[in-house]
Amino acid sequence: MSRAGTDPARPGRVGVAVPAAGVGVRMGGVRKAFLKLAGQSVLAHALRPFLEEERVVAVVVALAPADAASPPDWLMQLDPRVALVAGGDTRSQSVRAAIAALPDDVDVIAVHDAARPLLTRALVAECIELALEGFGAVAGCPAVDTMKVVDASGTVVSTPDRATLWHAHTPQVFPAAALRAAYATPGGEGTDDAALVERHGGVQVKMVDDGDSNFKVTHRADVPLAEAILVGRSQP
Ligand code: CTP
Ligand code: MG
Repeated sequence: MSRAGTDPARPGRVGVAVPAAGVGVRMGGVRKAFLKLAGQSVLAHALRPFLEEERVVAVVVALAPADAASPPDWLMQLDPRVALVAGGDTRSQSVRAAIAALPDDVDVIAVHDAARPLLTRALVAECIELALEGFGAVAGCPAVDTMKVVDASGTVVSTPDRATLWHAHTPQVFPAAALRAAYATPGGEGTDDAALVERHGGVQVKMVDDGDSNFKVTHRADVPLAEAILVGRSQP
């Protein structure tokens, strides 16, 4: 039996879980997913590279419960593969709800933050390939600043070797069974998805360098920067 993705007749079925239920506290209480950048919402930009990928068979977006009950028209009409669920109080709860609504027969699952509108199609494809080979794939980049470990009072405890440190972004793509098992513990929490998979074990997780522009729209200052990059990319 060939592994899904290695047989041209069975290119691999990809499910995508998109947490979009946050309330944007660091931006002053803005639903970042619906913020407009270069004429389209942050969420639409974040979904585009997945919807352009033929192996993607289903995308589940976790929205704040009120938005899931009454979603905007553009989202309902975006693509027949897109479904909506109500998210939870934490990112992990929202991802858990989205994963549970994906079809049972996907080979790999990609998790991607709605608040990251700058990912590319090539990055999505590279992460999917690794997951189809049986690895966890985490988009990210090497740390550029020196990092400090501090205690609760802000006193420095140690300085880890920067050469060993990376920022973890999304997409994070995993063999479906491994990600479902990692999220199976009710209440299991992590600041990313790989943290749960690492805790559960069984899958090697590899970093995929996503360059310098797959940042998360987190603070107000990120908005004009993200918009400028999107506009720049759309020009010939
Ligand atoms: N998210 C979610 N459910 C939550 C919290 C976060 O689906 N309960 C999603 C966000 O919508 C976002 C992603 O997780 O797409 C990454 O979270 P973050 O950037 O922290 O967004 P917010 O939680 O909205 O922002 P803040 O932490 O500033 O409130
Ligand atoms: Mg948050």
